[in-house]
Amino acid sequence: MTVNSNPNNHQNSNESAYKRIRIFDTTLRDGEQSPGASLEPEQKIILARQLAKLGVDVIEPGFAISSPGDFAAVQQVSRELQTVEIAGFARAMKADIDAAVRATADAARRRLHLFISSSDIHLDFQLRKSREQVLQIAREMVAYGKQFVDQIEFSPMDASRSGREFVIEMVEAVIAEGATIINLPDTLGYAMPEEYGEMFRIVRQQARGGDKVSYSAHCHNDLGLAVANSLAAIRAGATQIEVTINGVGERAGNCSLEELVMAIETRKSAIGAETGIVTGEIYETSRMVSRAMNFPIAYNKPIVGRNAFQHESGIHQDGLLKNRSTYEIMDPDAMGIPRSMIVLGKHSGRHALKHRLSEYGVKLDETQLEDLYNRFKVKADELKLVPDDVLIRLASETTATEHDPYTLTDLQVLAGTQRSRIASVTIRERDSEQERTYTGTGTGPLEAVIHCIQQAIPVAAEFEDLELHSLSTGEDARGEAVVSIVHNNRRYRGTAIHNDIILAAAQAYVAACNQQLLSVKPADNGASA
Ligand code: KIV
Ligand code: ZN
Repeated sequence: MTVNSNPNNHQNSNESAYKRIRIFDTTLRDGEQSPGASLEPEQKIILARQLAKLGVDVIEPGFAISSPGDFAAVQQVSRELQTVEIAGFARAMKADIDAAVRATADAARRRLHLFISSSDIHLDFQLRKSREQVLQIAREMVAYGKQFVDQIEFSPMDASRSGREFVIEMVEAVIAEGATIINLPDTLGYAMPEEYGEMFRIVRQQARGGDKVSYSAHCHNDLGLAVANSLAAIRAGATQIEVTINGVGERAGNCSLEELVMAIETRKSAIGAETGIVTGEIYETSRMVSRAMNFPIAYNKPIVGRNAFQHESGIHQDGLLKNRSTYEIMDPDAMGIPRSMIVLGKHSGRHALKHRLSEYGVKLDETQLEDLYNRFKVKADELKLVPDDVLIRLASETTATEHDPYTLTDLQVLAGTQRSRIASVTIRERDSEQERTYTGTGTGPLEAVIHCIQQAIPVAAEFEDLELHSLSTGEDARGEAVVSIVHNNRRYRGTAIHNDIILAAAQAYVAACNQQLLSVKPADNGASA
């Protein structure tokens, strides 16, 4: 679990004093409803395995009736992941329930998750049914599902915008038919934390049988309140929170697993709760979901955003180099987050530059450091962030010594409509002082370039990932490329910025290789910004 790095957070050593919150992950169902984020069944299975490794308590793998692919995914996840409870999601309709029951039949532990709307807006304009009719359907469908599955979770959809008395009436009715978990969704992300918590208190107290069931929160993030609302629900008695990785989901998304879990972990004694999440798997899970869904993560996203543990200001950098907890409340290592603690930019100081270069075995005397610092400031104004490879190049200029083992000196690419693309890359090798040209092909120009560099630089590292980001708009837009390679379980990242995105990718790859070859850090997880 995480290290408590906040000196003000005096954690109770008796872990069992905390209320255990069950994490219900709906990334593969509600999260997948995010526009453009749909997943193939095989991708769902791979992600579900990772969610199990992450330690979630319940997985909702899809909506079985919605397509043969989703049915197959729910079925396969139910068969394979016997340590996690599986939720079969269904509208309050027999055909949906039958599909969910069949798809989850082989799960070691399962529940049915049934829902029907409870707000007048939904009843009048969408379902075109009266409250009495909806109540009757809810009753009948819970009773129907209960014949097959013991655990029934029931959600009055749009509960937070529904009349309280009607929510209570519906909850009473479904409890009487055997519902065991009551989920009160804030479907439109409309509730304020006090209101949302209050709804749980009232329903628990006033619904007949309300003390015999457990409660779950399901919050959307339209007003950015999904985590705050979920915490309010915990305070008001909820013991399960429904979440998605990276907060993916309809519109502004769902309550983000990593934000909720880390709020609980970091402020355990203030919240009085804990989860069973293996926090060390958070970053890997986030990356896997982001890649599978083609869903980029905002730089400033809490916990998993690229800037979440980056520090540019000289004052912060100085504090961090003395003691991490001066400017950090969580330890990124505890979430498996690779990073270099410091992003170098125009606010960085000499101390930070010296520290970073020492990680690559580059030592400077006072005069050289002063010269480098001046060059660095000019570069920082131009680039905003100075990647490590650029810093090393500046150090080479300062010391009149080539530090990078390999330098890309030329790149040519033939792109177009032919079946394969052709690239040629010229690389200068520092030690032999030789320059050689390599050619390669690929299905795209980037792949062709990667093949050239793989021939040119014989590092044993595995190419892991290439990310491209547009840094501006317009005809002269500049792109940033980040390449990560992995060697002996250590990750090295090279970054480059250019208005030729292919050249940026090539430079970033060469930079990552150089970093691996230069790195003298004892436990380097990721060397660049
Ligand atoms: O947002 C919502 O209301 C839902 C329910 C159907 C649980 O996703
Ligand atoms: Zn939802």
